[in-house]
Amino acid sequence: MCGIVGAVSTRNIVPILIEGLKRLEYRGYDSCGVAVHQDGQLRRARSTARVAELEAGVAKDGIASGTGIAHTRWATHGAPEVHNAHPHFSGQRIALVHNGIIENHDELRAELQGRGYEFTSQTDTEVIAHLVNHLYDGDLFDAVQRATQRLKGAYAIAVFCRDEPQRVVGAREGSPLILGLGEGENFLASDAMALAGVTDQIVYLEEGDVVDLQLGKTWIATRQSDGRFREVQRPVRTVVAHSGAAELGPYRHYMQKEIFEQPRAIADTLDAVGGISPELFGDGAYKVFKDVEQVLILACGTSYYSGSTAKYWLESIAGIPTSVEIASEYRYRDSVPNPKTLVVTITQSGETADTLAALKHARSLGMEHTLTICNVATSAMVRECKFAYITRAGVEVGVASTKAFTTQLVGLFLLTLALAEARGRLSEAQEQEHLKALRHLPVAVQAVLALEPQIIAWAEDFARKENALFLGRGLHYPIALEGALKLKEISYIHAEAYPAGELKHGPLALVTAAMPVVTVAPNDALVDKLKSNMQEVRARGGELFVIADEGTRIDSGPGVRVIRMPEHYGVLSPILHVVPLQLLAYHTACARGTDVDKPRNLAKSVTVE
Ligand code: M6R
Repeated sequence: MCGIVGAVSTRNIVPILIEGLKRLEYRGYDSCGVAVHQDGQLRRARSTARVAELEAGVAKDGIASGTGIAHTRWATHGAPEVHNAHPHFSGQRIALVHNGIIENHDELRAELQGRGYEFTSQTDTEVIAHLVNHLYDGDLFDAVQRATQRLKGAYAIAVFCRDEPQRVVGAREGSPLILGLGEGENFLASDAMALAGVTDQIVYLEEGDVVDLQLGKTWIATRQSDGRFREVQRPVRTVVAHSGAAELGPYRHYMQKEIFEQPRAIADTLDAVGGISPELFGDGAYKVFKDVEQVLILACGTSYYSGSTAKYWLESIAGIPTSVEIASEYRYRDSVPNPKTLVVTITQSGETADTLAALKHARSLGMEHTLTICNVATSAMVRECKFAYITRAGVEVGVASTKAFTTQLVGLFLLTLALAEARGRLSEAQEQEHLKALRHLPVAVQAVLALEPQIIAWAEDFARKENALFLGRGLHYPIALEGALKLKEISYIHAEAYPAGELKHGPLALVTAAMPVVTVAPNDALVDKLKSNMQEVRARGGELFVIADEGTRIDSGPGVRVIRMPEHYGVLSPILHVVPLQLLAYHTACARGTDVDKPRNLAKSVTVE
């Protein structure tokens, strides 16, 4: 999704801006650009190609300066074309980049057009550039503060002015923005990762903050409830951000690499776990875990499916009523709050706008006990929540989430056990048994990865299909949902998932010989019910692709192809069964020749609503 980098220095900062954009590339974007203050002029380069092309264009045009801003854009308002790419200029005076969505852009556009401003793009961003220009009276910091008083929606912006050569101003509301402090130079970015290797001294700007960057000095002002600004100090943190540009090694794509990294990621996520204790989630967790009456899980996409899996664990093992809500729905829904709720957000990035907004909504309803399962320790979500469990998946580059999902499941299983313990539902023997199974997981996942050649053979067939059905029951229904999501997002094959018992209530009408039906079939309490559902498919000529396990008595035969998992894994079986589905999606996408790591229309980190 969109990314921002900005800098004020005495050295040429263009290489830093370009490198910062490269570090943000994995999030997904469809155009990019850079603007600098050079020889008393605004200069810019923009491209709908990759950052590497932008870099070449910048070098060719001799663009260099100590003051500049840069951006990767993921189109919301206006097509991904050069004239809509950021930075946007207002006349030859203001240059601006923006993440987020301005909701009152139509109204502001009409007003500014009435004042004679001409628009060259369809973006909401150009409105902000003209608004700042209109309000500019010799002090950019003041103009940006006044402009933000007029904006409705979400934004992180970076802006500079031709008349103030060594100054960049930033502002945020609803979209992340950080200030990086260097030696006599200062930086802005939407993510600390963009500044890796430049500075580790980071200030996380808060909602309503406007920041003034000059050579060797910075100021922050924040908007108060009466709309006026007052100066504030924000803490400086030392943040060691790792580059997203990890090496591919022997793999063709990051997604494949990340699927194969799962044994290591799970082992790392479990590394600090000596025994089960609520304090794994933070100080004071025991009292909260003991007293809460229910769990409310808020998440989006793949993270929502890990939450949906955890609901089964939380209710059956910890005995605590659990609801799982899609964050973008929950935030706008009238719901009945219970202050004795543990609100659990799940997010790989920790920056997903809908999940952050849903958390704030839950808090505004009086639910103060907040916990996150998150992969980025420095993210907004971790800062916002009282308790946290940081998964150790490492940077996930592929848009299709894989190792983040399985490590989230590990974190959620630990949460289940910790809640069970605090509520007196976990004996010492049960704890030891669960810990043993958790610690064996990396080896068990490794064994599942060895099934790859069989899955490649399935993928060759799938690549020729345009539709697929995924079935699961109980704990494995969310795994079927995740398998369908993986397939659709990277192979563009339309896929649906159903709890298998629901088939005869409608979707069975879709089943013909042309419809592959993937069935997640571990040898659990529902396996016989599932077999009946599979018969319903076979009777209509549907072709079954079954992921069975050690004890499942289903064999390959006409119209039934079985891949058998090496072992049955009890309640942790979803963590194993998702792996062949990830590989199926991956190899199907490869066979169809799609851009696996950067699927069309999608972004890695969804920081707009
Ligand atoms: O960073 P988050 O976990 O909050 O992201 C949530 C979803 O956007 C994400 O899981 C998305 O569904 C993935 N592309 C799925 O592979």
